[in-house]
Amino acid sequence: MLFPLPLLVIATRNSHKTQEIREMIGARYQVRDATDFPDLPAVDETGTTFLENATLKAIAISREVPGIVLSDDSGLEVDALHGAPGVWSSSFGGEEGNHAKNNARLLADMAGRTDRAARFRCTMVLAKEGEVIAHFSGTVEGRILDEPYGAGGFGYDPLFAPAGHDHSFAELGAEVKNSMSHRGRALAQVTQWLEENG
Ligand code: IMP
Repeated sequence: MLFPLPLLVIATRNSHKTQEIREMIGARYQVRDATDFPDLPAVDETGTTFLENATLKAIAISREVPGIVLSDDSGLEVDALHGAPGVWSSSFGGEEGNHAKNNARLLADMAGRTDRAARFRCTMVLAKEGEVIAHFSGTVEGRILDEPYGAGGFGYDPLFAPAGHDHSFAELGAEVKNSMSHRGRALAQVTQWLEENG
């Protein structure tokens, strides 16, 4: 007899995040997201850290849906820009979620800079019935390229080459990205925690 997979609701409407999470754990969990629950409230991301914003999303959504909720707050930190765009990664170009504008602003701000060091960070929070259960973080170091490369991934992926690679995340493809990404590293801790704690 087959048992249903445990339900995990991702507190996001970003289909790219859900897709990556599903690619990584979809064989072990029934992954849903906020788009599967049309009446959910929009959550204002008023925090100034990834942990604050991930916590706001996890608490708000877990009050409304059954079972365990997982939130993901993530972004890019660039050393030459003193850590920007950071928690404002999704609206860096002036329009929330407009990746083309975000990338154009990043390239403009990086013009002529020789220090290209950067990293993606992801903080994930698990919550149930409005209470935080646990939180985890993942990071991937790399550098900002001079122009966009590749068509895979999303967001800043065409401009980011992970350390040890000459190609962008958008060129490397989902399997390679997921094996080393900030999101993959945070999610590995989440699934280990869920397996150990039921
Ligand atoms: P959030 O939805 O507030 O967590 O903002 C996430 C933003 O960070 C996205 O809109 C992207 O701009 C950026 N970002 C986060 N993770 C990734 C990634 O894996 N690749 C490229 N950009 C990312």
